[in-house]
Amino acid sequence: MSKVSPSILSADFVNLERDIRHLQASGADYIHVDVMDGIFVPNITIGIPVVAAIRKITDLPLDVHLMITEPLRYVERFCDAGADILTIHAEADTVENNLEALRHIRAKGVRTGVSVKPATPPEALDPYMDLMDLILVMTVEPGFGGQKFMEDMMPKVRTLRKIIDVRSPGVELEVDGGVNTETARICVDAGANVLVAGSALFKAPDTSRFIREIHALP
Ligand code: DX5
Ligand code: ZN
Repeated sequence: MSKVSPSILSADFVNLERDIRHLQASGADYIHVDVMDGIFVPNITIGIPVVAAIRKITDLPLDVHLMITEPLRYVERFCDAGADILTIHAEADTVENNLEALRHIRAKGVRTGVSVKPATPPEALDPYMDLMDLILVMTVEPGFGGQKFMEDMMPKVRTLRKIIDVRSPGVELEVDGGVNTETARICVDAGANVLVAGSALFKAPDTSRFIREIHALP
C-alpha cells in the first residue's frame, strides 16, 4: 500500500490544528512539514516552534523536510521538537557535513532522509546509502507548493527503486511536488511508496477519498 504524507504548506495556518486533525481522521499516514530558510530556497515557511506545537496535537509521524542550508546546525533541535523522519538535502552542504547531520539524527533515534532536487542525479545519494531510512525525490523545484509535476523525474525514481531493492529494501522512496491522484499513479509505477501531496489534497472535495485512492495504488 502506498502511503500519503500531506504537506501542510497548503493548510490554513490560522486553523492548523483543525486541518491536522482532519488529515489524521481522513487516514493520512504522515504529516509532511516543509521547512524553508529563504536561502536554500527563495521562500521562508515554518520552523522549530511550529514543529513542537504540531507534535502536541497528533501522534502521526512528522515527516519534516528541511530545505535549509547547512542543516547540521539545526538537526538536533528538529529532532527534539518531535520530528519522526528528518530529511536534509544532498545539495545543502558538503558530503562530510551531511553525513555528520545524518549521524546526529540517528543518534536521536529519529529516522533519516536525504532529498535531491530535480537537477541532482541519483548518484549524489551514494555516500549516504548506509545512513538513510528514506530518499525524497523532488518532482518540482523546491520552494513553493502548487507547481506542475515533473514527469521527467521518473527515470530517477526507477533507478533509485532498483538500488534500494538491491541494497536496502527497508528504505522508503518518497516523491514530493505536483502529486495528485493521477501523477501519484505514475510515481508508484516508477517505484515510489510515499507520496507527498499539498495543493491537490487540500483542494480535493473529499480528503478521505483522495487518500483512499492513493492507498489503493499497489
Ligand atoms: C515544495 C515542498 C512540497 C510542496 C508540495 O518545496 O517541498 O512539499 O509543499 O506541494 P504540492 O503538492 O502543491 O506540489
Ligand atoms: Zn516537501
